Amino acid sequence: MKRKIYYQDLGLVNTSDMFRQAMQDGYAVPAYNFNNMEQLQGIITGCVASLSPVILQVSGSARKYAHPALLPHLAAGAVAMAEDLGHPIPIALHLDHGNSFELCRACIESGFSSVMIDGSHLPFEENMALTRQVVDFAHDFDVTVEGELGVLAGIEDEVVAEKSHFTQPEEVEEFVGHTGVDSLAISIGTSHGAYKFKLQPGEDPPPLRFDILEDIEKRVPGFPIVLHGASAVMPAYVAMINQYGGRMDDAVGISEDQLRRATQSAVCKINIDSDGRLAMTAAIRKVLSETPGEFDPRNYLGPAREALADMVKYKNEKVLGSANRV
Ligand code: G3H
Ligand code: 13P
Ligand code: ZN
Repeated sequence: MKRKIYYQDLGLVNTSDMFRQAMQDGYAVPAYNFNNMEQLQGIITGCVASLSPVILQVSGSARKYAHPALLPHLAAGAVAMAEDLGHPIPIALHLDHGNSFELCRACIESGFSSVMIDGSHLPFEENMALTRQVVDFAHDFDVTVEGELGVLAGIEDEVVAEKSHFTQPEEVEEFVGHTGVDSLAISIGTSHGAYKFKLQPGEDPPPLRFDILEDIEKRVPGFPIVLHGASAVMPAYVAMINQYGGRMDDAVGISEDQLRRATQSAVCKINIDSDGRLAMTAAIRKVLSETPGEFDPRNYLGPAREALADMVKYKNEKVLGSANRV
């Protein structure tokens, strides 16, 4: 039998205190996706520089990519790195879009402090039963659990939804009460990936459905809400990618003003993957285009890591309000 590893021994924390503080002080904790060491280093550098708590999140496919046995050690390394940079910050390791009880259990038994069980594609009763099963197991280890109601358009870890289905507020109270989840991801118009909306020339992205969010807040007051698919698809990085040989026509995301407004609500966690991918890709393309003879990975992954750290610091300070909270 494989040796089990629990997050308390890695210096990680679960999301309970993070969300309590974010709810009380009106900001959102950033949840940045990572797959490799440079992404992890960039995220930690940006969060330490801005004195922000952070949720490091890993999808099922990212876990396979990085290797499940390596991940707890990477996370423990992130804790040590933050301390070494002079500012320990609260760090959670979270499974993003877990799609089965077995995957959640494997993560809980290998150092994750928080898991998402995404039963959003299932009928309501089945979603509740699966989520409850994960909560019952996770809470025995003091691991926090995120559930989801409503479906986002775009790719959710190998599952592609053509159309979004907004969360139905009338389902939320029963779901939260019955499952015992610690936070809930909802669908109010965000979507995954770098192509969130198909717009006509000159057309603005549709606003988020804050009316649905407000209805949910009334039904479960003080309960932590999560926004997925919340990258801004920062135009400067898209332009840089296109300038240096890439092709990302029509990439568009959620406006920063909409995200700032969300941080003032019960939204306590905001998920960002695409913006990190864009920042790194832009930096790598620039180096390789300007110095075609370059072949030392440090000389393109290094700038990519720096670009990610800058993006993370900017996001924490100017959009999420999570800076200077540690
Ligand atoms: O919501 C999904 C995340 O962006 C992770 O995507 O499955 O490609 O790692 P991934
Ligand atoms: P983005 O694609 O908008 O970055 O969303 C990421 C996400 O929701 C991860 O779960
Ligand atoms: Zn997501």
